Amino acid sequence: MIRPQPTSTVPSPYPTDDPILRLIGNTPVVAYPGVADGRVQCKMESANPTGSMKDRVALGILLEAVAADENLDTVVEASSGNTAGAVALVANRLGLRCHLTCPETTSPHKIGYMHAFGATVHRCPAVDSSHPDHYRATARRLAEELDAFLINQYENQGNPTVHARWTGPELWAQLDGQLTHLVCAMGTGGLMSGTARYVKDAAAEAGRSVRTVGVDAVASNIANSFYGAPPVPYETTVEGLGKNEKLSTMWFDAIDEAALHVALQVHQEDPSARIGVVICDGGDQYFDTLFADPSAD
Ligand SMILES: Cc1ncc(COP(=O)(O)O)c(C=O)c1O
Repeated sequence: MIRPQPTSTVPSPYPTDDPILRLIGNTPVVAYPGVADGRVQCKMESANPTGSMKDRVALGILLEAVAADENLDTVVEASSGNTAGAVALVANRLGLRCHLTCPETTSPHKIGYMHAFGATVHRCPAVDSSHPDHYRATARRLAEELDAFLINQYENQGNPTVHARWTGPELWAQLDGQLTHLVCAMGTGGLMSGTARYVKDAAAEAGRSVRTVGVDAVASNIANSFYGAPPVPYETTVEGLGKNEKLSTMWFDAIDEAALHVALQVHQEDPSARIGVVICDGGDQYFDTLFADPSAD
Protein backbone atom coordinates (compact mmCIF):
# COMPACT_ATOMS: atom_id res chain seq x y z
CA MET A 1 0.00 0.00 0.00
CA ILE A 2 1.41 3.39 -0.96
CA ARG A 3 0.53 6.01 1.64
CA PRO A 4 1.22 9.33 -0.09
CA GLN A 5 2.28 12.34 1.88
CA PRO A 6 -0.55 14.79 1.22
CA THR A 7 1.84 17.71 1.19
CA SER A 8 5.38 17.82 -0.06
CA THR A 9 8.50 18.19 2.04
CA VAL A 10 10.41 19.53 -0.96
CA PRO A 11 11.07 23.28 -0.71
CA SER A 12 10.10 25.34 -3.74
CA PRO A 13 13.05 26.01 -6.06
CA TYR A 14 11.33 29.33 -6.84
CA PRO A 15 10.88 30.99 -3.44
CA THR A 16 8.89 34.21 -3.26
CA ASP A 17 7.51 36.45 -0.51
CA ASP A 18 4.32 37.14 -2.44
CA PRO A 19 1.40 35.66 -0.45
CA ILE A 20 -0.46 34.50 -3.57
CA LEU A 21 2.51 33.19 -5.53
CA ARG A 22 3.58 31.21 -2.46
CA LEU A 23 0.42 29.16 -2.95
CA ILE A 24 1.82 27.70 -6.18
CA GLY A 25 3.13 24.14 -6.00
CA ASN A 26 3.13 21.74 -3.06
CA THR A 27 0.00 20.15 -4.51
CA PRO A 28 -1.58 17.13 -2.80
CA VAL A 29 -1.29 13.53 -3.94
CA VAL A 30 -4.39 11.40 -3.43
CA ALA A 31 -5.00 7.72 -4.08
CA TYR A 32 -7.50 7.00 -6.85
CA PRO A 33 -10.25 5.26 -4.86
CA GLY A 34 -11.30 2.95 -7.71
CA VAL A 35 -8.07 0.95 -7.54
CA ALA A 36 -7.06 -1.16 -4.55
CA ASP A 37 -3.93 -0.67 -2.45
CA GLY A 38 -3.27 2.88 -3.61
CA ARG A 39 -1.77 1.61 -6.85
CA VAL A 40 -2.85 4.74 -8.77
CA GLN A 41 -1.81 7.99 -7.12
CA CYS A 42 -2.98 11.33 -8.52
CA LYS A 43 -1.05 14.57 -8.11
CA MET A 44 -3.73 17.24 -8.07
CA GLU A 45 -2.31 20.21 -9.96
CA SER A 46 -5.81 21.67 -9.92
CA ALA A 47 -4.89 22.91 -6.42
CA ASN A 48 -2.70 25.66 -7.89
CA PRO A 49 -4.13 29.23 -7.73
CA THR A 50 -5.35 29.39 -11.36
CA GLY A 51 -6.24 25.69 -11.33
CA SER A 52 -3.39 24.13 -13.29
CA MET A 53 0.28 23.14 -13.22
CA LYS A 54 1.06 26.01 -15.61
CA ASP A 55 1.24 28.30 -12.54
CA ARG A 56 4.58 26.61 -11.78
CA VAL A 57 5.88 27.25 -15.30
CA ALA A 58 4.82 30.90 -15.26
CA LEU A 59 6.36 31.48 -11.83
CA GLY A 60 9.64 29.69 -12.55
CA ILE A 61 10.24 31.32 -15.93
CA LEU A 62 9.18 34.83 -14.90
CA LEU A 63 11.13 34.89 -11.63
CA GLU A 64 14.28 33.93 -13.52
CA ALA A 65 13.58 36.43 -16.31
CA VAL A 66 13.06 39.28 -13.83
CA ALA A 67 16.23 38.32 -11.95
CA ALA A 68 18.19 38.36 -15.22
CA ASP A 69 16.84 41.71 -16.47
CA GLU A 70 15.91 44.42 -14.00
CA ASN A 71 14.37 46.52 -16.81
CA LEU A 72 11.87 43.81 -17.73
CA ASP A 73 8.43 45.41 -17.46
CA THR A 74 6.27 43.68 -20.08
CA VAL A 75 5.65 40.03 -20.77
CA VAL A 76 4.00 38.42 -23.82
CA GLU A 77 2.81 34.85 -24.19
CA ALA A 78 0.78 32.77 -26.64
CA SER A 79 -1.46 30.10 -25.18
CA SER A 80 -4.40 27.98 -26.21
CA GLY A 81 -4.40 26.23 -22.84
CA ASN A 82 -3.93 27.03 -19.18
CA THR A 83 -0.70 28.99 -19.53
CA ALA A 84 -2.38 32.30 -20.31
CA GLY A 85 -4.25 32.52 -16.99
CA ALA A 86 -1.14 31.43 -15.11
CA VAL A 87 1.03 34.07 -16.80
CA ALA A 88 -1.65 36.72 -16.18
CA LEU A 89 -1.65 35.96 -12.44
CA VAL A 90 2.12 35.79 -12.02
CA ALA A 91 2.74 38.92 -14.13
CA ASN A 92 0.12 40.79 -12.10
CA ARG A 93 1.72 39.84 -8.79
CA LEU A 94 5.21 40.72 -10.06
CA GLY A 95 3.99 44.12 -11.30
CA LEU A 96 4.57 43.36 -14.99
CA ARG A 97 2.39 44.43 -17.90
CA CYS A 98 1.03 41.37 -19.67
CA HIS A 99 -0.15 40.75 -23.25
CA LEU A 100 -1.63 37.37 -24.12
CA THR A 101 -2.51 35.98 -27.52
CA CYS A 102 -4.93 33.09 -27.92
CA PRO A 103 -7.06 31.51 -30.64
CA GLU A 104 -10.54 33.04 -30.85
CA THR A 105 -11.94 29.62 -29.94
CA THR A 106 -10.36 29.73 -26.46
CA SER A 107 -12.81 29.00 -23.67
CA PRO A 108 -14.46 32.07 -22.10
CA HIS A 109 -13.55 30.60 -18.70
CA LYS A 110 -9.85 30.90 -19.52
CA ILE A 111 -10.27 34.35 -21.07
CA GLY A 112 -11.95 35.33 -17.80
CA TYR A 113 -8.76 34.48 -15.90
CA MET A 114 -6.71 36.66 -18.26
CA HIS A 115 -9.00 39.68 -17.85
CA ALA A 116 -9.40 39.14 -14.11
CA PHE A 117 -5.66 39.55 -13.62
CA GLY A 118 -5.45 42.65 -15.80
CA ALA A 119 -3.82 41.20 -18.92
CA THR A 120 -4.44 42.64 -22.39
CA VAL A 121 -5.99 39.83 -24.44
CA HIS A 122 -5.41 39.53 -28.20
CA ARG A 123 -7.83 37.03 -29.72
CA CYS A 124 -6.45 35.70 -33.00
CA PRO A 125 -8.19 33.95 -35.89
CA ALA A 126 -8.11 30.14 -35.83
CA VAL A 127 -5.71 29.91 -38.81
CA ASP A 128 -2.91 27.50 -39.72
CA SER A 129 0.31 27.90 -37.71
CA SER A 130 2.13 29.15 -40.84
CA HIS A 131 -0.26 32.14 -41.13
CA PRO A 132 1.08 35.53 -39.90
CA ASP A 133 -2.09 36.09 -37.87
CA HIS A 134 -1.74 32.79 -35.98
CA TYR A 135 -1.64 33.40 -32.23
CA ARG A 136 1.97 32.28 -31.87
CA ALA A 137 3.16 34.52 -34.75
CA THR A 138 1.16 37.39 -33.28
CA ALA A 139 2.87 36.93 -29.90
CA ARG A 140 6.31 37.04 -31.55
CA ARG A 141 5.38 40.23 -33.40
CA LEU A 142 3.93 41.87 -30.28
CA ALA A 143 7.00 41.02 -28.21
CA GLU A 144 9.20 42.77 -30.78
CA GLU A 145 6.92 45.80 -31.07
CA LEU A 146 6.66 46.20 -27.28
CA ASP A 147 10.29 45.26 -26.59
CA ALA A 148 8.82 42.69 -24.20
CA PHE A 149 9.92 39.34 -22.80
CA LEU A 150 8.33 36.48 -24.76
CA ILE A 151 7.90 33.39 -22.58
CA ASN A 152 7.42 31.02 -25.56
CA GLN A 153 6.41 27.88 -23.66
CA TYR A 154 6.67 25.94 -26.94
CA GLU A 155 10.46 26.34 -27.14
CA ASN A 156 11.59 27.70 -23.79
CA GLN A 157 13.57 24.93 -22.06
CA GLY A 158 12.57 26.59 -18.80
CA ASN A 159 9.14 24.95 -19.28
CA PRO A 160 10.26 21.31 -18.86
CA THR A 161 13.04 22.44 -16.51
CA VAL A 162 10.54 23.86 -14.00
CA HIS A 163 8.91 20.42 -13.80
CA ALA A 164 12.28 18.66 -13.54
CA ARG A 165 13.20 20.93 -10.62
CA TRP A 166 9.83 21.11 -8.89
CA THR A 167 6.92 18.84 -9.91
CA GLY A 168 9.10 15.73 -10.28
CA PRO A 169 10.87 16.05 -6.91
CA GLU A 170 7.54 16.71 -5.15
CA LEU A 171 5.88 13.66 -6.67
CA TRP A 172 8.87 11.43 -6.00
CA ALA A 173 9.09 12.53 -2.36
CA GLN A 174 5.33 12.26 -1.77
CA LEU A 175 5.33 8.68 -3.05
CA ASP A 176 8.45 7.86 -1.06
CA GLY A 177 10.26 6.98 -4.27
CA GLN A 178 7.95 3.98 -4.73
CA LEU A 179 6.90 4.89 -8.27
CA THR A 180 7.21 2.35 -11.10
CA HIS A 181 5.15 4.20 -13.75
CA LEU A 182 4.49 7.88 -14.50
CA VAL A 183 1.56 8.96 -16.68
CA CYS A 184 1.11 12.57 -17.87
CA ALA A 185 -0.92 14.24 -20.62
CA MET A 186 1.10 16.16 -23.21
CA GLY A 187 0.69 19.50 -24.95
CA THR A 188 4.02 21.33 -25.09
CA GLY A 189 5.39 18.21 -23.39
CA GLY A 190 6.90 20.31 -20.60
CA LEU A 191 5.11 18.52 -17.75
CA MET A 192 5.83 15.01 -19.05
CA SER A 193 9.42 15.71 -20.07
CA GLY A 194 10.59 17.46 -16.93
CA THR A 195 8.78 15.20 -14.48
CA ALA A 196 9.91 12.10 -16.38
CA ARG A 197 13.51 13.26 -16.50
CA TYR A 198 13.58 13.78 -12.71
CA VAL A 199 11.87 10.52 -11.69
CA LYS A 200 13.99 8.48 -14.12
CA ASP A 201 17.20 9.97 -12.72
CA ALA A 202 16.03 9.55 -9.10
CA ALA A 203 15.02 5.92 -9.75
CA ALA A 204 18.34 5.18 -11.47
CA GLU A 205 20.19 6.55 -8.45
CA ALA A 206 18.22 4.11 -6.29
CA GLY A 207 19.09 1.27 -8.68
CA ARG A 208 15.56 1.05 -10.10
CA SER A 209 13.64 2.28 -13.15
CA VAL A 210 10.41 4.14 -13.88
CA ARG A 211 8.42 3.66 -17.08
CA THR A 212 7.15 7.01 -18.37
CA VAL A 213 3.97 7.15 -20.45
CA GLY A 214 2.86 10.31 -22.27
CA VAL A 215 -0.82 10.69 -23.17
CA ASP A 216 -1.72 12.32 -26.50
CA ALA A 217 -5.11 13.32 -27.92
CA VAL A 218 -6.72 11.29 -30.75
CA ALA A 219 -6.34 13.68 -33.72
CA SER A 220 -2.96 14.97 -32.60
CA ASN A 221 0.56 14.26 -33.76
CA ILE A 222 2.76 13.90 -30.68
CA ALA A 223 2.45 10.10 -30.58
CA ASN A 224 2.83 9.90 -34.37
CA SER A 225 5.98 11.98 -34.19
CA PHE A 226 7.30 9.85 -31.29
CA TYR A 227 6.73 6.59 -33.18
CA GLY A 228 7.71 8.01 -36.60
CA ALA A 229 4.19 7.50 -38.00
CA PRO A 230 2.72 9.83 -40.66
CA PRO A 231 0.82 12.85 -39.27
CA VAL A 232 -2.99 12.92 -39.19
CA PRO A 233 -5.15 16.03 -39.76
CA TYR A 234 -4.85 17.87 -36.44
CA GLU A 235 -7.99 18.63 -34.47
CA THR A 236 -8.22 18.57 -30.68
CA THR A 237 -11.13 19.54 -28.47
CA VAL A 238 -9.42 19.97 -25.10
CA GLU A 239 -7.28 23.11 -25.27
CA GLY A 240 -3.69 22.44 -24.27
CA LEU A 241 -3.78 18.67 -24.85
CA GLY A 242 -2.06 17.39 -28.00
CA LYS A 243 0.02 19.24 -30.60
CA ASN A 244 0.46 19.15 -34.36
CA GLU A 245 4.25 18.81 -34.32
CA LYS A 246 7.23 17.79 -32.20
CA LEU A 247 8.35 20.76 -30.11
CA SER A 248 11.77 21.28 -28.54
CA THR A 249 10.08 21.21 -25.11
CA MET A 250 9.22 17.53 -25.71
CA TRP A 251 12.19 15.59 -24.36
CA PHE A 252 11.42 12.31 -26.11
CA ASP A 253 14.54 10.71 -24.62
CA ALA A 254 12.85 10.84 -21.19
CA ILE A 255 9.65 9.20 -22.47
CA ASP A 256 9.15 5.46 -23.00
CA GLU A 257 5.67 5.40 -24.51
CA ALA A 258 3.38 8.00 -26.06
CA ALA A 259 -0.12 6.82 -26.97
CA LEU A 260 -3.70 6.81 -25.72
CA HIS A 261 -2.63 5.21 -22.51
CA VAL A 262 -4.04 6.27 -19.22
CA ALA A 263 -3.16 5.26 -15.73
CA LEU A 264 -6.00 2.77 -15.45
CA GLN A 265 -4.97 0.99 -18.64
CA VAL A 266 -1.45 0.69 -17.29
CA HIS A 267 -2.88 -0.71 -14.08
CA GLN A 268 -4.92 -3.30 -16.00
CA GLU A 269 -1.84 -4.35 -17.94
CA ASP A 270 0.32 -4.55 -14.82
CA PRO A 271 -1.67 -4.77 -11.58
CA SER A 272 1.56 -4.66 -9.54
CA ALA A 273 2.54 -1.25 -11.00
CA ARG A 274 2.77 1.73 -8.67
CA ILE A 275 1.50 4.51 -10.88
CA GLY A 276 1.77 8.25 -10.44
CA VAL A 277 -0.47 10.32 -12.69
CA VAL A 278 -0.33 14.10 -12.82
CA ILE A 279 -3.81 15.64 -13.07
CA CYS A 280 -3.04 18.85 -14.99
CA ASP A 281 -6.15 20.77 -14.01
CA GLY A 282 -9.69 20.38 -12.66
CA GLY A 283 -11.38 20.05 -16.05
CA ASP A 284 -13.99 22.74 -15.36
CA GLN A 285 -12.11 25.09 -17.72
CA TYR A 286 -13.52 23.10 -20.63
CA PHE A 287 -17.21 22.93 -19.72
CA ASP A 288 -18.10 26.07 -21.62
CA THR A 289 -16.47 24.89 -24.87
CA LEU A 290 -17.30 21.17 -24.59
CA PHE A 291 -20.89 21.58 -23.47
CA ALA A 292 -21.86 24.93 -24.99
CA ASP A 293 -25.61 25.56 -24.91
CA PRO A 294 -26.61 25.93 -28.61
CA SER A 295 -29.73 27.92 -27.63
CA ALA A 296 -27.67 30.51 -25.75
CA ASP A 297 -26.88 32.81 -28.75
C1 LIG B 1 -5.59 19.53 -19.83
C2 LIG B 1 -4.16 19.63 -20.19
N1 LIG B 1 -3.49 18.51 -20.45
C3 LIG B 1 -2.21 18.55 -20.79
C4 LIG B 1 -1.52 19.75 -20.87
C5 LIG B 1 -0.13 19.67 -21.33
O1 LIG B 1 0.86 20.20 -20.53
P1 LIG B 1 2.25 20.48 -21.22
O2 LIG B 1 2.07 21.69 -22.08
O3 LIG B 1 3.23 20.69 -20.12
O4 LIG B 1 2.59 19.28 -22.05
C6 LIG B 1 -2.18 20.92 -20.58
C7 LIG B 1 -1.50 22.19 -20.65
O5 LIG B 1 -1.99 23.22 -20.27
C8 LIG B 1 -3.53 20.87 -20.24
O6 LIG B 1 -4.22 21.98 -20.00
